[in-house]
Formats: sequence, C-alpha cells, structure tokens
Amino acid sequence: MKGVILAGGLGTRLRPLTLVTNKHLLPIYDRPMIYYPIQCLLNAGIKEILIVTGGEHAGDFLKLLKNGKQLGIDRLGYAYQEGEGGIADALKLAEDFADRDKVCVILGDNIIQGNIRKAAGDFFTQSSGAKVILKKVPDPERFGVAMLDGDRITSIVEKPADPQSDLAVTGIYFYDADVFDVAQTLKPSDRGELEITDVNNYYLDRGDLTWDVLDGWWTDAGTLESLYRAATFCADGGANHLELPVEAAVSK
Ligand code: DAU
Repeated sequence: MKGVILAGGLGTRLRPLTLVTNKHLLPIYDRPMIYYPIQCLLNAGIKEILIVTGGEHAGDFLKLLKNGKQLGIDRLGYAYQEGEGGIADALKLAEDFADRDKVCVILGDNIIQGNIRKAAGDFFTQSSGAKVILKKVPDPERFGVAMLDGDRITSIVEKPADPQSDLAVTGIYFYDADVFDVAQTLKPSDRGELEITDVNNYYLDRGDLTWDVLDGWWTDAGTLESLYRAATFCADGGANHLELPVEAAVSK
C-alpha cells in the first residue's frame, strides 16, 4: 500500500502566516506540520509516499524533506496541483504513483495522537473498496459527517448545517485502485471543489465502504484556532505516534 499526503490549497485562512510558506510547513509545537502525516504513514508501515502540494511555496517542501531518506521514507515523490480544485482534484495527481496499488490518503493538516496501524492492516486484507476513519467531535458542522445505522454508514454529508450525528469523517482514507476512475466522474460542489465526500459516498452506494473509530485525540490545523489547538495537544498530550527523533530528522 502506498501513502499520499494532500498538502495543496492556498491556506488563505492562515494569512499572513501562509504568505511566506506553505501551510503544511508551519510549525506545530516542535516540528513542521507535514512531519505528522509522514510519521502517521511510517508508523503504519507505509514507506512509499507522494506529497501533493501547490502554490508559490511548493519548493519549500524539497528544502525540508529532500528525498525523505533522513526521515525513514523509502521513496518520496512530489506532485504539483494547479489552483485549489479540492481534495479529490489533488488526489487525481497520485494515479501514476499509486500504479494500481491501494492507497492510504491523509490530509496534510490532520494530526492524530494514536496510530492507524490496525486500520491499515485491516484495509490491506479488505478485498476491495474504501475505508474511512471516524471520530466523535463537538463541532461536526465543520466536517464531513457520517450517519450510522448499527454498524453500517448510511450517509456522509459534507459540512451539514444541522448535523444528524457527531461523528466526523477524519482526513484519513483508504482506497482501492478504482478511486482514480471515481475521481474522474466528480462534478464541482457549490464551493467549486471536487469533494472527497462524493468519493466516499460513491463507495457507500456501492456497498464497499468500511469504517473504524480513531483512538486518542485528532485535530485539523487549517484555521488559527485549530493550529493553536494542534500545537497545544502536541506539547501537552505528547503525540504518541511521534517516534521520529526530531534532532536526527533535522540534522541530517
Ligand atoms: O479534516 C477533515 C475534513 O477535511 C473532512 O471532514 C471533510 O470531509 C473534508 O472535506 C475536509 O474538509 P476541509 O474543508 O477542512 O478541507 P480543507 O479545504 O481545509 O483541506 C484540507 C487539506 O486538504 C489541506 O490541508 C490540503 C488538502 N487540499 C485541499 C484543497 C482544497 C489539497 O491538497 N488541495 C485542495 O485543493
């Protein structure tokens, strides 16, 4: 299974911070934001990773990550997204890298305390389809929201005004190789983006979507409030998954 980190978008909600670098390179406590999704993939045993980014600071990723060997990445690729056409638009750029393998996709601003090793192992043995990771949140209207009937997801709604459940769909997804055909069929949403929720609903309609619930805290870091919260979580709670020695990572 390969890993894809989506780190495009223009980060307008974090201006002026994002006028000088890409949002995913801003510090979260003691390291750049992008280290967290990288570590999440490495901890799940996924060592071939593509980073999809964009904007005028895309070159900063190369300066920081180089070929990724110093972080323990076996193969690191980069793709450039023109504009910000949405999460599913960014994912399209991973088709060649994935090369018909299954993929674990992580949004570059999602940070978790625990790890996804079990979910990754379960998806590895899932014969086809997709898997999403859910988390109970106090503010579901900010996210894709899943409705459950027993142990079956019945629908996923993107940022509902009146959420029918408090289960957010986190930005960690597993897909089979069909995902790239699905992405080609999508139409832009009202906010002008190709939505990852539409991809997930395709698999739901096909009866091929499984789910898991994440242990430990989870946050995105795309607004000033959530960026601050992420730093506080990492400083106070200690992100358990951070086995990466920071000194080694920065000094090599
Ligand atoms: O954080 C989880 C949520 O992420 C999910 O619950 C939602 O279903 C999903 O749509 C997404 O919601 P956001 O509106 O918070 O996504 P945002 O536009 O902030 O983008 C999140 C990351 O996706 C961003 O850090 C980089 C990547 N991205 C986003 C866009 C719009 C790209 O790579 N390219 C893009 O064009």
